[in-house]
This record gives sequence, C-alpha cells and structure tokens, in this order.
Amino acid sequence: MKFFLDTANLAQIREANALGVLDGVTTNPSLMAKEGVQGAEGCKQHYLKICEIVNGDVSAEVLATDFEGMVKEGKELASLHPNIVVKIPCIAEGIKAIRYLYGKGIRTNCTLVFSPGQALLAAKAGATYVSPFVGRLDDISSDGIDLVRKIVEMYSIYGFDTQVLAASIRHTQHIIQCIEVGAHVATCPLSAIVGLLKHPLTDSGLATFLADSKKYME
Ligand code: E4P
Repeated sequence: MKFFLDTANLAQIREANALGVLDGVTTNPSLMAKEGVQGAEGCKQHYLKICEIVNGDVSAEVLATDFEGMVKEGKELASLHPNIVVKIPCIAEGIKAIRYLYGKGIRTNCTLVFSPGQALLAAKAGATYVSPFVGRLDDISSDGIDLVRKIVEMYSIYGFDTQVLAASIRHTQHIIQCIEVGAHVATCPLSAIVGLLKHPLTDSGLATFLADSKKYME
C-alpha cells in the first residue's frame, strides 16, 4: 500500500519524505488555506514547492464547479509539473471533466466520495484515483472502512484500473484497516504514519539491549 501525506505543510512533507516511505501528497483547499497560501499564483508556487520535495503524485484540487472551469483549471494545474494529479469533486460536472481530462491524458483524483455508486461513476469516467473519505463517514456513525472495502471489491470484480485512495484518515488504526481491506493508497496525517512505529515492547526491548551493551562496551 502506498502512503500519501494529507497536508500542504512543507515542513511535514519534508519530515515524512525523510523517512523514505512517502509516495505522494494530497492537498485540498482547506489544507492550502491553513498554510496561508494567497491567490492563484501563490497556489501554483506552493504546489511546485511540494513537487520539489516529494518524488510522487501530488493532488491539486480545482476550485471551479462547472465543466469548462474544471477543465481549464485542470489543464493549468497539470501543466505545472508531471507529478500533479488534478483533484475533482464527485459531482456531475466533475465526472464529465474527469472523462474529458482522461481523454487528454491528464490524471485525476475524484474526491469527496461517500458511496460505491459515486466510485463506480468515477472509475467509468477514467479517474486515476478515487478518494473515499473514511473519517468523515465515521464522524456520522457510518462505516468509512466498509466503503473502502466495497470499492476495492467492485474495482477488482470489474477490472477497473482506478486506484482506491483512502482519504480522511484520522489515526493509525485506520491505516491498519486500509491495509486489511486492500486500499491501494492511504493519505494520512504525519502523526498517523509515525504512530505505526509505536510499540512499548520495541521501546523496552531497545532500552534493555542498550543497557546490556554497556556490559561489554565500557
Ligand atoms: C484528501 O484527499 C482529503 O481532502 C482529506 O483526506 C480530507 O480529510 P479530512 O476529512 O480530515 O478533512
């Protein structure tokens, strides 16, 4: 399973990249706003900075909600850097735009997906990635991981190439569950990735080994 970092924060992207296990980055307008990015030019420069850090796919979201606007923005974003994947919301105009961009060889990430039906339309339109939002479903007492499982199964049965990118991951256990249901990618906060390393037996075992090493190294 690939790991994407779900942030527009450059310091966090550098830190995750330094671990050597980062496969890409996803951003959204809320994450960009959090970093204080200003204006269209500011956004482009920020996406370029992210692309300079990580050697992998970087999702950049369109702001238009009509077909023509999404296509125009999508082309502009894709022309910024070969690693840019155009993120498009799962609405009717978005599905049309994904289909059009697919025909032009531009890769897309269909976002804000909350049902298998939406994921089916995204795949039929030729989306490179589909992003089911796990945490936001859990927030309303629905089962986010079960949606990921259903989409993975559906794509496997029908032979779609679209990759399931589990999004809105909130914690380490979500990552483990994504592995169990066969998500192709999980986009996560840095804390959830680092959390995978934590185990008290690792810490106590290392402490013992270091203490014992002093018996023959000092
Ligand atoms: C990523 O593609 C999504 O925009 C993101 O994971 C949403 O996460 P949130 O529900 O924590 O805002």
